[in-house]
Amino acid sequence: MPVSHSTVHVINHLHRDYLRQALEEDVTNGLTASPKWLPPKWFYDATGSELFSRITRLPEYYPTRRELAILRAHAADLVAGADTLVELGSGTSEKTGLLLEAMSAAGTLRGYTPVDVDAVTLESAARRLAGRFPGLAVRAVCADFERHLALLPRGGRRVVAFLGGTIGNLEPVARAVFLKELRATLRHGDTFLLGADLVKDTGRLVAAYDDAAGVTAEFNRNVLRVIDRELDADFEPEAFEHVALYDDRHDWIEMRLRASRDMRVSVGALGLTVEFAAGEEMRTEISAKFRPEGLNQELTAAGFRVRRRFTDPDGDFTLVLAEA
Ligand code: AVJ
Repeated sequence: MPVSHSTVHVINHLHRDYLRQALEEDVTNGLTASPKWLPPKWFYDATGSELFSRITRLPEYYPTRRELAILRAHAADLVAGADTLVELGSGTSEKTGLLLEAMSAAGTLRGYTPVDVDAVTLESAARRLAGRFPGLAVRAVCADFERHLALLPRGGRRVVAFLGGTIGNLEPVARAVFLKELRATLRHGDTFLLGADLVKDTGRLVAAYDDAAGVTAEFNRNVLRVIDRELDADFEPEAFEHVALYDDRHDWIEMRLRASRDMRVSVGALGLTVEFAAGEEMRTEISAKFRPEGLNQELTAAGFRVRRRFTDPDGDFTLVLAEA
């Protein structure tokens, strides 16, 4: 039998300068604001990605396990009709195999397009999956899914997957903009598969972001290590305490770093000096939790039609399949 070889193309929309500029901008804006804040996207250097992967295995952190359970139970329904999987924020593409497997079993599988800002992770995931699925056309796109949606390849009948609950990192306005822009890039017959964490008991929510082993605390402080290294700053990560709280007015978890004493921090590459007062808190992440009706409304407002909705047996997490 002839072996049908997979192909891997990597398209890079980010130049080294792009990430650097974005980091400089974010850090300048965040550290000169009152209250101070930093965007969660800078957690994920090699150490941060490893810490996140440890988080997904923590007993308190249920979202990954719950989403996997839904993917296992309903993979065939989730990808029905699609020949190309586009995955936004694909990272290590750990859950992707389940969806590609289902497309392969249905005899529709043609292409896979992972999209991520981290070129190294992107390429290794692309090669791993190309090796696993003979004949698969992998077009990996190194891009920022908040800014480069319009540049995604448009061929095939696509299912665009945005998994893990990462949508929760966006504030409501940014979320609406993102959903509208995504909708505008989709064509009739394309679908959107969205993973979102659901509102639940506050104790469980907070525990998922403040684990007993302290892995999330290290993950949180990692953003300071990234800024120290990349922007020649002198944050002392150990001088900041991890804070996780649930804001039930906004339905989101907030992670913060709290200065344990008065500090002056210099960010060499930006010529910036910032003061922290003892007890001052800086927001580093929001992770929004959803109600099924609210999610429906947001998708509808962006021009999607919700086709199906799946939840794990405990009702912790949801996967919504919407069509353009
Ligand atoms: C990767 C954004 C889905 O919000 O649950 C995990 C990141 N932060 N623990 C989440 C995270 C702290 C995670 N997302």
